[in-house]
Amino acid sequence: MSHEYGPVGNVKYPNDFKWGVATAAPQIEGYPRAAGGGESIWNTFAGIAGNIKDGTTPNVADDHYHLYKKDIANMKELGIKNYRFSIAWPRIFPEGTGRIEKQGIEFYERLVDALLKAGITSWITLYHWDLPQVLEDKGGWPSRETAYAFTKYVDVVTRALGDRVKHWITINEPWCSSILGYYLGAHAPGRKSLSEGLQTAHHILLAHGMAVPIIRENSKDSEVGIVHNFQPIYPADGKEENYQASLRFDGYSNRWFLDPLFGKGYPPDMLTLYGNAVPRVEENDMKIITAKTDYLGVNYYFPQFIKEGQGNGILRSDHVTLPDVGHTDMGWMWMVYPNSLYDALKRLKEEYQIPAIYITENGAAYQDTVDADGRVRDPKRTLYIEQHLGAVLRAIADGIPVRGYFVWSLMDNWEWAEGNSKRFGIVYVDYDTLKRTIKDSGRRYAEIIAENSL
Ligand code: FCB
Repeated sequence: MSHEYGPVGNVKYPNDFKWGVATAAPQIEGYPRAAGGGESIWNTFAGIAGNIKDGTTPNVADDHYHLYKKDIANMKELGIKNYRFSIAWPRIFPEGTGRIEKQGIEFYERLVDALLKAGITSWITLYHWDLPQVLEDKGGWPSRETAYAFTKYVDVVTRALGDRVKHWITINEPWCSSILGYYLGAHAPGRKSLSEGLQTAHHILLAHGMAVPIIRENSKDSEVGIVHNFQPIYPADGKEENYQASLRFDGYSNRWFLDPLFGKGYPPDMLTLYGNAVPRVEENDMKIITAKTDYLGVNYYFPQFIKEGQGNGILRSDHVTLPDVGHTDMGWMWMVYPNSLYDALKRLKEEYQIPAIYITENGAAYQDTVDADGRVRDPKRTLYIEQHLGAVLRAIADGIPVRGYFVWSLMDNWEWAEGNSKRFGIVYVDYDTLKRTIKDSGRRYAEIIAENSL
């Protein structure tokens, strides 16, 4: 069976298809303390030896805070019309609650205005993992207070920018913030408790649900959604026990988040499996979480093939890697398998009747270098993007409402626990000089956008 899609002739994407690129504040901005900003859980986490693969911190990153005009110029040069970026909560509320730092808001006003001037539409993510450290000190996401603090922050930001920004994403990847951050401890703040992870997931979904009406009120006629990192899960083979293991893993990765968002409540099989670790849920919470949204953002990177085993704690499952597929620089789990993007989109339509989907992230890390002639040749990334865009095209042809696609990422950046060691950009960043160089994949993406076709 072939699992590759390539360029598919001169078939066009819909006329109003949104082409974009994505970034996140902690990965590009740098200098958390500039202009009165506070620290986030990622500053603290990166300060602890052993947490970040190459020992780097988000303190400088791409220094986008100062170099944003250059980054906008690069997008303009490539014909990119949509830019998804996040706002750093600790820049706006350095103390978590209470005092609002005006300089933080002013930075995003400058950014949004410069984007408008360049003809680029802003898609703002309100939470891309950088919880103010002061809020973590007060209990973090396992505390319900954090969800309330989030709504105050959302109110302030959407009041300030709601006239000019009409595309909002409440939260990026609740699975990562809750499971990676509070259960597996691989991401900030590095806690390792299943019940705290699940309580975090609940409060993040609640924070999302409470934020939706606030955004709608402050930003009239805007589009609001949440972003889920959809991990397509398949059983390793036809054995019943492996099928059961894949169901558990899917519950953990996908259904635990999508079911409550789309009105189905927490999945009963997972409530049973999680037992005493299930979250405290107050009256009305489940209703709040189902707040009507305009679209779902899907971040897609790779599928997972699961068999029953001793791994993954309570999930009793192991991962299987396929012998005949490529992997990106992120390692053996990050298989290049565009078929599963198609499957994910199909499932979202069929199982959750989602009215509109944006691929809010998709892309690949490879070790790029600048050649002697100054060019960055990255054919594998180009192929990855083309193959996945092929899967999107097939989904659209089958009536699945995919309305846009954002490459992760505009430029190489600070890849969380992997530090500066992984390059996802279509623009190369030299971390010594901060010089930006558009890669070949960026040029190819510009062509696809210009032609609205693969
Ligand atoms: C996603 C994150 C994004 C980036 C990519 C590679 O999970 O949302 O910030 O790190 O992975």
